[in-house]
Amino acid sequence: MRGYDVVVVGGGVVGLSAAWRAVQGGLSVAVVDPDPGAGASHAAAGMLAPVSEVTYTEEPLLRLGLASLERWPSFRDELQEESGVDLDYRAEGTLEVAYGPDDMAYLEDLAAFEQTLGLPVERLTGRECRKFEPMLSPSVRGGLLAAGDAWVNPRLVVRALLAAFERAGGTLVRDRVTELVVDGDETRGVRPASGEELSASRVVIAAGSWSASLAPGLPVRPVKGQILRLRGPKGFLSRCVRGKVHGSSVYLVPRGDGEVTLGATVEELGFDGRVTAGGVYELLRDARELVPGITELELVETTVGFRPGTPDNLPLIGPAVAPGVIAATGHHRSGVLLAPVTAEAVTAFLTGGDVPDAVRSCDPERGLR
Ligand code: GLY
Repeated sequence: MRGYDVVVVGGGVVGLSAAWRAVQGGLSVAVVDPDPGAGASHAAAGMLAPVSEVTYTEEPLLRLGLASLERWPSFRDELQEESGVDLDYRAEGTLEVAYGPDDMAYLEDLAAFEQTLGLPVERLTGRECRKFEPMLSPSVRGGLLAAGDAWVNPRLVVRALLAAFERAGGTLVRDRVTELVVDGDETRGVRPASGEELSASRVVIAAGSWSASLAPGLPVRPVKGQILRLRGPKGFLSRCVRGKVHGSSVYLVPRGDGEVTLGATVEELGFDGRVTAGGVYELLRDARELVPGITELELVETTVGFRPGTPDNLPLIGPAVAPGVIAATGHHRSGVLLAPVTAEAVTAFLTGGDVPDAVRSCDPERGLR
């Protein structure tokens, strides 16, 4: 039987970040995943955008997002240095734009709300928006600039984390965990599909939308998102563009290599992995209203991902389920953003260090059921 201090179930951005930090903290760690980075991290757009993702009543999530955004530059530097992989990290901010009069009214309300929270957003006219982003349609009425937002390519983050984790001495086990092994009050490890138990007195559950199948007490459900990848000339857009088009939301995230990630539907359909004509149509229709030139780009990929949603949209980070088990799941729309603060918190739970204050709202046992 192979033994470790910690087994991390799930090799997406959250699980790998926690595992990497735990190895750096001196623990022996195995990550178990049949196909690391193939879940939500593969679909994710990688927006590090707590300000432009802010929603009424979700201030604890905003504070958590801001705490993690603050950690991203040093996380990036260290990860790039340790892995040799460039993450395509960009920090030109998010331009949030409105199409119809109803969308403009929504944006005005949002700006007022953001200002009451002391967030740094700048209101712009349609003309000012087009100065920032010349590809925007003349129909765009106005916008908000969240200059502090950033973004990253999540697939490169996974590649970098795998390299950094293994270089630091971590073990990757390409297998699927079928069971947590708990004996009375004691966690003994996990049983993978291959059968040979991996022993560890601590287990981190970072299996995203699949977390509840391993630990039925965790209130995590899949929230389907369809997302497209287009390819165009470099510099087609300079920053993330999000928009409301007659009430529906769409975003465009440009990469250094000319890719534009266009997302995303939000569907409560369980693990329905189908890309639908309607989903793709609505995304392209709304994106074209904001940026007509996208119809000239090549459509190179359609993907479905499953956001791990929770009843209050806050993640579950901390001791849960059984002694020795730590949840790091339920990150819903923000797994990539929240990876650094989650990893720091998980390492603190594992080693008895200080848990960041903003994570206190994420206690998995906060009475969600
Ligand atoms: N954070 C973007 C999304 O979940 O679609």
